[in-house]
Amino acid sequence: MSKLKIGFIGCGGIANQKHLPGMAQQKEYVDLVAFCDLIPERAEKAAKEYGTPDAKVYTDYHDLLADKSIDAVHVLTPNIAHCEITVAALEAGKHVLCEKPMAATTADAKKMLEARDRTGKMLTIGYQYRHFHENTVARKVVADGWLGDIYYAEATYLRRRGVPTWGVFTDKSKQGGGPLIDIGTHALDNTLFMMNNYDVEYVVGTSFEKLGRLLDPEHQGQVSFMGDHDSWNNETYDVEDSAVGHIKMKNGAVINLRASWAINMAEEAGGDNAAHVLLCGTKGGLDTLAGRVRLNHVIANQPTISWVGNQVRGFIPGFSQGPAPVSKEHDIWVKALRGEGDLFVTADQAFVVTKILDSIYYSSKHNKPVYFDAEGMPIFD
Ligand SMILES: NC(=O)c1ccc[n+]([C@@H]2O[C@H](COP(=O)([O-])OP(=O)(O)OC[C@H]3O[C@@H](n4cnc5c(N)ncnc54)[C@H](O)[C@@H]3O)[C@@H](O)[C@H]2O)c1
Repeated sequence: MSKLKIGFIGCGGIANQKHLPGMAQQKEYVDLVAFCDLIPERAEKAAKEYGTPDAKVYTDYHDLLADKSIDAVHVLTPNIAHCEITVAALEAGKHVLCEKPMAATTADAKKMLEARDRTGKMLTIGYQYRHFHENTVARKVVADGWLGDIYYAEATYLRRRGVPTWGVFTDKSKQGGGPLIDIGTHALDNTLFMMNNYDVEYVVGTSFEKLGRLLDPEHQGQVSFMGDHDSWNNETYDVEDSAVGHIKMKNGAVINLRASWAINMAEEAGGDNAAHVLLCGTKGGLDTLAGRVRLNHVIANQPTISWVGNQVRGFIPGFSQGPAPVSKEHDIWVKALRGEGDLFVTADQAFVVTKILDSIYYSSKHNKPVYFDAEGMPIFD
């Protein structure tokens, strides 16, 4: 089989942290042939560092998509542009790996799903937290039946002070929201996937715009596993700084979701600032910590804690802590492109995450719950 030709649309933070080094590890199977960014220097730099000698550079993604030899593209732009570019790419006959969240709104995500179905091309979303060791272990613990029927869960990603000061994360017009859509999305995706429950009854939520603008950000940054969160610009900050959601599933299970970049809470989630999942079932419970899972269960009638797994996690050298395994996300993606395996993150699953996050914002704005209809669509009236 000849090598697949891959293009990249958006050559900013996540392209350089994850996709370019990740796909460079797949060079036995792929050629990185096209790079597009509104800022030409970014596309040129990516092409020089990762591209084939004849790699093309673009500033207009339509020109990249017009190249019929390209098999697949990665959509790595701010959230608001995911829908338009992904739909155009699918229509142009490309398979698409789009960054998370799938889209900023339910309506946009629906268009992407419809385009996937119309074109028959593959679409997956970049929820790489699923591959962190603790989350892989937690899924196996659930699948092996240690928890029984899961009826309560918490999906948490809390930073006390951790506003991203790179990219456009605090710009609502480009991202559609703040920590809920940026990091809460990972915690919720993991939780739904571990529960294997995507049937939502209703969502109630509140997002807070308290600290982002009010705090004097000088010296308020913190160091996290992602690096140094510097002080942020509180004059241009226009997204929420924290949000909570209560998600009732059709089978009666409940998920409480919390996300923040800035909140006056001493305990951050996950110990090292990572997405944290708590699951409570009829037989036992678990919560995820960096590299391992804490299982609470009963042995000989005694309440017992078992630590499952003890590995440092990571997925790309230099991005996360410790010795890094290969990029599972790209491994799975390239296998799927070669027809040798299935996608791991389906667009249908990511669509539910986007519907829930959109419903939390709606519920907060309109001060009421959002019910989901029989087709699984939120009723925004
Ligand atoms: N999976 C993760 O953990 C993770 C982490 C960070 C960011 N992300 C996601 O990745 C996406 C990009 O975030 P980022 O941090 O790389 O942002 P960024 O601002 O650093 O990079 C985005 C790039 O896209 C370019 N761009 C914008 N519109 C474009 C267009 N129409 N055509 C071509 N290029 C365009 C910008 O010029 C910029 O260089 C976001 O959706 C974000 O949520 C995911």
